[in-house]
Amino acid sequence: MRPTLTRIDEARFQRVASRCQWSERSLGVVHALLVEGRQLAEVAAAFDMRPQNANTLRSRFIKKVEKDRLAEFIRSEPPSSILALRERDTEIRTLQAKGYSVEQILTYLMEGGAAVSESTLRNYLEGRPGMKTIVMANQKGGVGKSAVAVQLAYYLQLIVGKRVLVIDFDHQRNSSKALRTGGIATVSQIPASRVLTAKVKGVEDEPFVLLAADNAELLGMEVQGKQAHNLFASNLQAFLKAVDADFDVCIIDTNPNPDIRQLASLVVADFVLSPIQLNQEAIDGIGDLLNHDSIGIRKIQATINPKLKLIGILPNLVEPTPFQRENLKDLAAAFASLMIATGNGYAAIKKSTAIPEAQAAGIPVWKLGKTSGREAWAQIKPTFEKIASTMGVL
Ligand SMILES: Nc1ncnc2c1ncn2[C@@H]1O[C@H](COP(=O)(O)OP(=O)(O)OP(=O)(O)O)[C@@H](O)[C@H]1O
Ligand SMILES: [Mg+2]
Repeated sequence: MRPTLTRIDEARFQRVASRCQWSERSLGVVHALLVEGRQLAEVAAAFDMRPQNANTLRSRFIKKVEKDRLAEFIRSEPPSSILALRERDTEIRTLQAKGYSVEQILTYLMEGGAAVSESTLRNYLEGRPGMKTIVMANQKGGVGKSAVAVQLAYYLQLIVGKRVLVIDFDHQRNSSKALRTGGIATVSQIPASRVLTAKVKGVEDEPFVLLAADNAELLGMEVQGKQAHNLFASNLQAFLKAVDADFDVCIIDTNPNPDIRQLASLVVADFVLSPIQLNQEAIDGIGDLLNHDSIGIRKIQATINPKLKLIGILPNLVEPTPFQRENLKDLAAAFASLMIATGNGYAAIKKSTAIPEAQAAGIPVWKLGKTSGREAWAQIKPTFEKIASTMGVL
């Protein structure tokens, strides 16, 4: 069953008519029916045509009009809004219950002025909130961004059962190496740099996909100026939107330098997680993390990406020394609101040989088959649960 479009306006008729190679007679029939709103029998008689044929012309033209409306809508679509869908939930559910397709419901909504994308509507109908993007960011190197990215990806895919996309923007390729070695994720044909430099419309249809780092191309971006930033961020945004219905979570691992790869990631992400180490230098760096001129999280929230939410700073490589214990206490006192609260105090990951071992083998830390792995996992799991629930994917 299709919704029946009874009338269309002259401008739309002319636009659609100019694009189809129909005879004047056929267009005359359709014009009389759809623009002038005359009765079928009368129009058929006036054009010396059987009513069934006139009706067929009408249906075929309506399909073209629907396509045209859809194309116009997609071109002019403002940012999608779940709110607009919620407001019209009753109508949407009625159409769905009557068997209308997603495309038809979209057409109907757009006629009523609602601004939503097809993927947003699909997610809404299926009760899914759409893909959430989390970026690992810290300008300090070696703090565990890649280890957390990989282990969090394994947790969300293998334990929580989410469809996970990992993008590795770091030319050092640490996440890519671990995920490739593990052989659990599908390595995409599309290298990570391409979603910044080009318009990419989709990836492999798999539940766990890696866009691996491509060394030379990504390294080149370190020296790209600000002028490239808009293009890169808008390409990345368009890509994430294109795969919005295909994944539940996108995890972006970044390089430790504050360049356009980090900036573009923060501009498009929903969440940011910052592993840190408990030394004075790293703690002093928290100010930069928040207020850095170009990639400070607060700067980005206040200007270009107000939806960005800091999940928190995650102390990693924590050692059981009095010095580190003191640092952790000081950190919690000074930055309590930035810490990740679990049921068991603030989240922190101890230094453990299990993590580099799991990363080298490319496997989840809980599958290491060693006491050290089980111990590490017992500590990491509540942290990951908290992260997943903050992201709304648990
Ligand atoms: N909790 C931990 N205990 C022991 N080793 C760890 C822990 N977390 C990470 N590591 C190891 O520390 C090293 C640095 O971690 P990782 O590569 O994840 O840091 P990074 O922040 O991604 O670094 P970069 O900024 O250079 O990309 C790796 O060898 C990793 O396996
Ligand atoms: Mg890394």
